[in-house]
Amino acid sequence: MKRVIVGITGATGTVYGVRLMELMRTDSEIEIHLVMSRSAKLTLKMEHDLELEYINELAHEVHEPGNIGASISSGSFHSEGMIVAPCSIKTMSNIAMGNTGDLISRAADVILKEQRKLVVAIRETPLHLGHLENLAKLARIGAVIFPPVPAFYNRPSSLQDIVDQSCMRMLDQLNVHIESAPRWGEEGGVPAVGQKIEGGKA
Ligand SMILES: Cc1cc2nc3c(=O)[nH]c(=O)nc-3n(C[C@H](O)[C@H](O)[C@H](O)COP(=O)(O)O)c2cc1C
Repeated sequence: MKRVIVGITGATGTVYGVRLMELMRTDSEIEIHLVMSRSAKLTLKMEHDLELEYINELAHEVHEPGNIGASISSGSFHSEGMIVAPCSIKTMSNIAMGNTGDLISRAADVILKEQRKLVVAIRETPLHLGHLENLAKLARIGAVIFPPVPAFYNRPSSLQDIVDQSCMRMLDQLNVHIESAPRWGEEGGVPAVGQKIEGGKA
């Protein structure tokens, strides 16, 4: 059983975190642990019609962002790693500085200290030097800095295509390979966001 932690913060693009979980649900060998910040729940309401209940059901375990005693706050909790998607500047800076006052930054810090894989889908533009310096620090201490920047060589025809391609590449970083978008020279695809994936391995 592979365990993956998903952190969703209040940056725009909550759909990335949701889609990561939908994709992982196609593999019954993956156990998903979710933490959503308070701001993420507010941002979600502004940009999507998806219900929080639906999102929580995608995870095998949902952790409250204030519960710094949750299982995922300990290095003894083994996992493949953690993806924070989307990741706000606030949470990225907290992780870079070791400010671990909430569960997302604490779990991310633990992943780094245990030398597991942390993928940070930072979402802000433009970036000032302070942002860049924190990102550089985070990269130096082992995180994968993964702004969800679309590719166009695969000719995306919808937002869905763009989200799926980024999510597939984020999951690749954790050695979770789900064919949600065509890879260079290959074909593939799964149902759209908000549609529970039937007939997968789940
Ligand atoms: C609609 C909306 C979009 C936002 N987009 C971003 C964003 O793309 N990047 C970012 O760093 N913050 C963004 N913010 C601000 C964050 O939500 C805010 O900094 C919050 O404190 C982040 O807290 P968290 O990291 O605990 O979720 C946005 C806020 C709202 C309401």
